[in-house]
Amino acid sequence: MIRVTRKYRLSASHRLHAATLTEDLNREIYGKCDNPYGHGHNYEVAVSVRGPLDQRSARVVNPATLDRLVEEQVLRPFDHRNLNAEVPEFQNTVPTTENLAAEIFRRLQTHWKSAFPGDGPALEKIRIAETPRNIFEVSEIHG
Ligand code: NI
Repeated sequence: MIRVTRKYRLSASHRLHAATLTEDLNREIYGKCDNPYGHGHNYEVAVSVRGPLDQRSARVVNPATLDRLVEEQVLRPFDHRNLNAEVPEFQNTVPTTENLAAEIFRRLQTHWKSAFPGDGPALEKIRIAETPRNIFEVSEIHG
């Protein structure tokens, strides 16, 4: 088995604010990230796949196929968006980077088999760097 990781850039804005909590509690929990006008990040999204070497190509994954999947499921819906306002999944879910990573993993997982049928590579992990200091990884979704 060989693991291959490919990186993507994703720019988006968000506001960390839970409608179910009071203003004071939101301020306490999220601090400046609760700013009503939001703020942006240049996320680095790394997608790790694992699989055997394909006999014919001597590769684990066709990067063009992976790019297409990521473009359709992640970049087109999320890039240069306000996550709270423009992404239905975050209408009622706070777009923390934990939740963003989980949503990206879920989307890729859901469409994985149609992009990579048969004995193709498996989706192993999503790693998002929100800032150089804040890194989030999702490798399996339960529930
Ligand atoms: Ni933020």
